[in-house]
Amino acid sequence: MKHHVECIGCGVQYGPSETIYVCKSCQDLLEVKYEYNSLRSRIDTAVWKTRPLSVWRYKELLPIDEASAKVSLGEGGTGLHRCVRLGERLGLEKLYVKNEGENPTGSFKDRGMTVGVSKAVETGAKKVVCASTGNTSASLAAYAAKAGLECIVLIPSQKVALGKLAQAAIYGAHVLQIEGSFDDASRAVLELAQFESGLYLLNSINPYRLEGQKTIAYEVWDQLASKSPDTVIVPVGNAGNISAIWKGFQDLERLGLISELPKMIGIQAEGAAPIAEAFKKGLNTINPTPNAETVATAIRIGSPASWKKALTAVRVSKGLMETVTDEEILEAQKLLARLEGIFVEPASAASIAGLKKLVGAGAINRREEVVCVTTGHGLKDPEVIGRACEKPIQVKADQSSIKRALGLTT
Ligand code: F0G
Repeated sequence: MKHHVECIGCGVQYGPSETIYVCKSCQDLLEVKYEYNSLRSRIDTAVWKTRPLSVWRYKELLPIDEASAKVSLGEGGTGLHRCVRLGERLGLEKLYVKNEGENPTGSFKDRGMTVGVSKAVETGAKKVVCASTGNTSASLAAYAAKAGLECIVLIPSQKVALGKLAQAAIYGAHVLQIEGSFDDASRAVLELAQFESGLYLLNSINPYRLEGQKTIAYEVWDQLASKSPDTVIVPVGNAGNISAIWKGFQDLERLGLISELPKMIGIQAEGAAPIAEAFKKGLNTINPTPNAETVATAIRIGSPASWKKALTAVRVSKGLMETVTDEEILEAQKLLARLEGIFVEPASAASIAGLKKLVGAGAINRREEVVCVTTGHGLKDPEVIGRACEKPIQVKADQSSIKRALGLTT
């Protein structure tokens, strides 16, 4: 697949065989670019339909050579759930949840890792590395195991959800819990990968990883019978995913497959919201949050790497950024589970909490077709449920005790 990597700031181009993570001349973020004119003639959507709904259905739009091995665990193909009961409760006619918790390791990161780890193998890397609030490390560890690569992950000293730690451990990653936050781990890992040859970095500044994640947009388009929704709502932490999904919709437009682009709405937790703050103040840069804090530990990030791409996505798409409180997040998590049978981790519920807030404020109207992306499975973070839900009632095993506890006695 013909592509190059381009700096989003100064436009310098790099060849596909070069391993770099930021622009060498201005340090800005990078993006994978294709020759859309030649792609348009090569893409046949009828052929796509003959392949399973998955990341690799769209292989013509992914930057991995046809001949290269694909490191896959069956990622993508997640449900786009029509949420009638939740829609009624929130006052929306057409609400969908794209449930990324259905991926092999339980989060959207698997879409990025199938492409990113395939790229690592293509470049001959033997070791892969990332910083993570938990899901990235779980996913990278699994894909590294599948590919036979060594995996190193740096996680913050506190507040990594139990399920995610368990995953990184069982897949055999070297886990370093560093003294500091995700932002500290993130800085450390970039330096490590830039100066230590042979370590392939798979955080979301790696533009190849985002190419995998953009397939969320393609699948939504496919599942809505070849059209885009009016509005897409995404939880935002390091800001790679919202940027990737926006790129996916832009690809579809460039290829002539859609004429209308959706509004992109990013939701941050109130205690970790530098991009939402910049958006609301009309700033062109962010002020990092020094001590980011939220129950949604996956998005407990004060200095998001891809803030610039995310701000562009929401501004160009005429969308917006909003914040939600921890209470709103936990309430939305419960609402989604109880009205739709979909159990997501707190960070994912931020998209539902944001939707509720924006419908209430009149910023989203009832006839808009809305897709909320829920990014990770609820079982990732079982401890939080103790806070959000009532404890089981202890009863004796006899009929009268059980009936009394259920209010069935007369
Ligand atoms: N939701 C979940 C469940 C996540 O794990 C993350 C990010 C996000 C949302 C935000 O996505 O960073 O692309 O804006 N988790 C990263 C990690 C940071 O290390 O697992 P983003």
